[in-house]
Amino acid sequence: MSDVNYGSYLALDDLLALQRPRSTPQHPDELLFIVVHQASELWFKVILHEFESLVAHLAAGSAPLALQSMKRINGLVGIVSNELSALDTLPPQRFAQFRGYLGASSGSQSVQFRAIEAVSGLRGEHFMHAITEHGPIPPLVQRALDRPTLQQLFLDMLASNGVRLEQVYADDRHATYQLLAEALLEYEQGFARWRFLHVQLVERIIGPGTGGTGGTLGARYLQKTISQRFFPDLWSVRAKFFGGGAATP
Ligand code: HEM
Repeated sequence: MSDVNYGSYLALDDLLALQRPRSTPQHPDELLFIVVHQASELWFKVILHEFESLVAHLAAGSAPLALQSMKRINGLVGIVSNELSALDTLPPQRFAQFRGYLGASSGSQSVQFRAIEAVSGLRGEHFMHAITEHGPIPPLVQRALDRPTLQQLFLDMLASNGVRLEQVYADDRHATYQLLAEALLEYEQGFARWRFLHVQLVERIIGPGTGGTGGTLGARYLQKTISQRFFPDLWSVRAKFFGGGAATP
C-alpha cells in the first residue's frame, strides 16, 4: 500500500509554511496580498510549462494539438486575471499600513512574468529595458529569448505547408489554422486584460499618480505596457480584407 496521502502528495506542510507576512504586529490584510501574488506565480509556472507543449506542437506542425494547448493556456490566463479581483477588497488606507514592509520588492521583478512575455514574443525596447534593469537577464528569460517567438513558430508552420497568413482567413480549407490564429489572438487579448485589470487595481489602491515600490511612475508606467503586441502580423493581416496595408505575406 502506498503511504502517500493528500497532505504529503501536495507537500502541504511546505506549501502552507510559505506565507510569511512581514508586518509587525501582523496586518490582517497582508496574508491575502501574499497569497494572491503566490497563487499568480504558481499559475505562471503552469503557463510556462504549457508553453513547452505548445512550442513543441507548433514546431512539429500539429495545429490541432497546438490549439488544444492554447485553449488551456487561455483558461489559465483568465484565472490569473480573475484572481486580481480578490485585491479589489483592499482599501488604500489599509494597504498603506503595511506597504512599507515590502521594501523595494515589486511585481516588475517577477522572472516568470518576464519569461512568459519573452516566450510570447516581446522583444521591443521597453521590454528589453524591463528585463535588464534589475541586473543580468535571468536564465529562464534568456532561454525564452533565444527561441523563436510564438508568432514566428506559427508563421513557420504555415510556410512549411505552403500557406500564407492571409490565406488562413481567406480560405475555409485552412479552418484549423484560422482557429489557432484566433486562439493566439484570444491569448493576446486575455493577457492585455490582465494588464488592464492590474493597472486599474493599482489606480484603485494607490491612485493614478503614486509611484510604485519598484521605482516606476506606477499606473502611468503600466498604462504604456498595454499597447505592446505579441502577434503584430495576426493583427495587421486583417487590414488586407479592407484594402489596407501589407501583412506578412
Ligand atoms: C495591491 C495590489 C497591487 C499593487 C498596488 C501593484 C502595484 C504595481 C506597480 C505600481 C507596478 C509598477 C512597477 C513598480 O514601480 O512597482 C506593478 C508591476 C507589476 N505587478 Fe503589481 N501590484 C499589485 C498586485 C499585483 C499582483 C497580485 C500581481 C500578480 C503577480 C502583480 C504583478 C505585477 C507584475 C508582473 C508587474 C510588472 C508589469 C509590467 O512591467 O508590465 N501585481 N505593480
